[in-house]
Amino acid sequence: MDTKKLYIASAIPYVNGTPHIGNALDFLLADIWTRYQKQQGHEVRFQLGTDEHGNKISQKAAEEGITPQAYVDTYHLNFKNLMAQLAASSTDFIRTTDPHHISAVQYIWQKLQPYIYKSTYDGWYCVGHEAFFTDKEVQGFSGNCPDHQKPFERVQEENYYLKASAFTDQIRTAIQDGTMQIVPEYRKKEFLELIKDGVQDVSISRPRKSLSWGVPVPNDPDQVMYVWLDALSNYITVLGYPDREGWQEYWPADVQVIGKDILRFHAGIWPAILLGLGLQLPKRLLVHGHVIVGGAKMSKSVGNVVDPVQIINEYGIDAFRYYFSRHIPTLDDGDFTWEKFEAAYNGELANDLGNLIQRVASMIVKYQAGVIGESEQAEHDMSLYHESMEKLEFNKAMDEVWNMVRSLNQYIDNVKPWEVAKEIGKDAEAEPHLAEILAHCAGALLQIGDLLVPFLPQTAERIHKLFDSGVVQPDEGVSFPKLYLHTADPHAPKA
Ligand code: 2FM
Repeated sequence: MDTKKLYIASAIPYVNGTPHIGNALDFLLADIWTRYQKQQGHEVRFQLGTDEHGNKISQKAAEEGITPQAYVDTYHLNFKNLMAQLAASSTDFIRTTDPHHISAVQYIWQKLQPYIYKSTYDGWYCVGHEAFFTDKEVQGFSGNCPDHQKPFERVQEENYYLKASAFTDQIRTAIQDGTMQIVPEYRKKEFLELIKDGVQDVSISRPRKSLSWGVPVPNDPDQVMYVWLDALSNYITVLGYPDREGWQEYWPADVQVIGKDILRFHAGIWPAILLGLGLQLPKRLLVHGHVIVGGAKMSKSVGNVVDPVQIINEYGIDAFRYYFSRHIPTLDDGDFTWEKFEAAYNGELANDLGNLIQRVASMIVKYQAGVIGESEQAEHDMSLYHESMEKLEFNKAMDEVWNMVRSLNQYIDNVKPWEVAKEIGKDAEAEPHLAEILAHCAGALLQIGDLLVPFLPQTAERIHKLFDSGVVQPDEGVSFPKLYLHTADPHAPKA
């Protein structure tokens, strides 16, 4: 197989506030795909970063009485720490306040000159989204942004525009013929419907009096770049565009991971920028959904916001990765409740997998002094796993892994190695038979470990450590000890 150079990118979060589940999903899904590609032997660059300009940030800084730069220097670390936990396979990290990024974005601005013109914007703005909205959208929401629970602002200002409309045909064709795939298919259809009358020209600057914290527009001291032009450009500036060696080897991106709420920026504005620069479009946009809580939207005012850091601190990284890769459909909205999470943790991770690892290891130690014998290993057909991975349906790939985990448990329950062990000394066949059973179990666990590498890296490593060398060392460690912190243990003795 040819080794490819691949580039995987994740949306970069604004650093006001603390990381939310949507951010964590971006990092996790990009990390899963990166680990999978690395496991296939490819060379991967995986970018992460933080979006540090814009009014949201300067407002927060003002509330704290510090400069925007001091604010982002402190608060971007909340995000970087979560990335380090959930996306340790990342290779590149960018802050939009990095000097190289700023000068690269100014270069991009100059290069886009043939498509830039000045005009007056008279319409609506939401600072929470850092985005402009049409009359129709604002009417549809009765004047209030449903995501940020604030009235849309009416603005009238002179802005520079990018003539994105000039690229309508190219963008539409690229999406239709799969040059730039939007996954899942229904999101692609939604976006094609959105641009049925053409891609709209887009404002790419704001007057300094409306937006002070951003990249200065070259040769116009009164204008500052709109955060989305600045942010989207990160995907190439982090690779070194335009002046550092090597970026061409990794562009276009193999996969860019985004949430559904920012699809229009990534499928419309971003391709227009790239086409204006004469660059190729990303090959795939993986669009994930939203996580709701017990069927309701997460909201600070309702008080049902789920904090990814809390889940990781209480249950560990692999437990977080498990729930959000398997029980939240990769390409759709999904539901989180502590009941569901703890049922999955205790029932599936602790019982199905943790116990399985433990009982196979301890039987090999107990009956064979740790020595794993030889066995003809029946390779499980994992084509469905790989097909699901290729389709970016990670939850379905995990279902395949769990089929294997459950059938191995079933196999052990059926062959009852402990009964076979009792026959040793009485039946000459018992010892080789037991050795074969246990070698089969260890081999199947190693195969499960391989499939878990992209999903549960710590658990995969533990499985490999235990069974890879041919001799299992006695190990008191338990993967996923039972834990009920938010719900009652259904097996606890009744008081
Ligand atoms: O919605 C957000 O949090 C934006 N900061 C996402 C930017 S992604 C890309 F443009 F870099």
